[in-house]
Amino acid sequence: MTGRPAWAEVSLATLRENFRAIRRHVGPGVEVVGVLKANAYGHGAEAVARALAAEGAAWFGVTSAAEALPLRRAGLSQPVLLFSGFWPGEEELLADHGLVPFLFDAGQLQRLEHYGRRHDKSLPFHLKIDTGMGRLGLDPAELPAFLEALGRCRHARLEGLCTHFASADEAGGEQTRRQIERFGGARRQVQQQGFHPRWLHMANSAGLARFPESHGTMVRPGIALYGYQSWASPPAVKPVLALKSRVMSVRAMPAGAPLGYGATYVTAAAARIAAVPTGYADGLPRLLSSRGRALVRGCAVPIVGRVSMDLTLLDVTAVPGVQPGDPVVFVGRQGQAEITADEPARLAGTVPYEILCGIGVRLPRLYVES
Ligand SMILES: Cc1ncc(COP(=O)(O)O)c(C=O)c1O
Repeated sequence: MTGRPAWAEVSLATLRENFRAIRRHVGPGVEVVGVLKANAYGHGAEAVARALAAEGAAWFGVTSAAEALPLRRAGLSQPVLLFSGFWPGEEELLADHGLVPFLFDAGQLQRLEHYGRRHDKSLPFHLKIDTGMGRLGLDPAELPAFLEALGRCRHARLEGLCTHFASADEAGGEQTRRQIERFGGARRQVQQQGFHPRWLHMANSAGLARFPESHGTMVRPGIALYGYQSWASPPAVKPVLALKSRVMSVRAMPAGAPLGYGATYVTAAAARIAAVPTGYADGLPRLLSSRGRALVRGCAVPIVGRVSMDLTLLDVTAVPGVQPGDPVVFVGRQGQAEITADEPARLAGTVPYEILCGIGVRLPRLYVES
């Protein structure tokens, strides 16, 4: 690590525990795909993949071939699912690197088949059905025509059938139950036409936790691997990532002092203000300006003034003895106190996913075993 003390600490031990908890929850016979898209939700895809592979993960999932190739360069050989499919011209990458795209329409099937025929290669894919997300996926009404076309293919191979839940983490669950039912209908159609894909999968983290009937033969947890769950049911998981820094300077400011860009905060009384070298370019949302908190010496202290690109100010008046070099935690634990990514997410009007994915690329990731 270089001198600037701002880093994301990633506990590989916790990651592995979360993976094991998910595996125990879904039981044997259900494959757990390690979802590594967006640099493993900000945690660092290669290190996360290595840790999961050592734990026995047999499949990974990313958004695109561009995200999969670094895993291959890092020596990981597990099959990788491409959740956003493939783009024209990427057929060779699929074939050469064992990448398995989701397919959404018959045009993509033709492209795969065409490439496979020309190069005498068998290309597996997972067909994604839109059961209610309204985003990507084959409309179930188009399934008969797709299966007819598939019947003529000799190189494109239907290895999996899948869908994605729109609201498995929300109260109620009617939409998810409807999606499970529609998926069952699609599966029956596929089987009636003589296709028997080995992998049947629907569930993201919330789906696998709340809808056991959605487990199929494969589940695709992302956020739960990284320790976040907005539902009460198991598997119990713990946050993997902490956003840490150190106090850079502490200054005594008089009452009436404007702090930071725009002078949006003015001290009401004399205050001790700590500058911390972490800002929005590191993933601390600017919306935390004068709203968020950090931990110093085991106490929660307020962020004052605007979060800037590289720096943030904390009012440490209430904490005796704060000095340059003291550890600061924006997300994570310090002593008995903890700030999870749920807190900045709520204050910034977003979800923990976005906080984790937004951890700046310039921040070093420090992998720890504790
Ligand atoms: C197709 C697909 N499957 C699984 C996941 C993992 O979702 P989650 O992080 O909610 O478990 C995602 C992420 O958005 C996804 O796009």
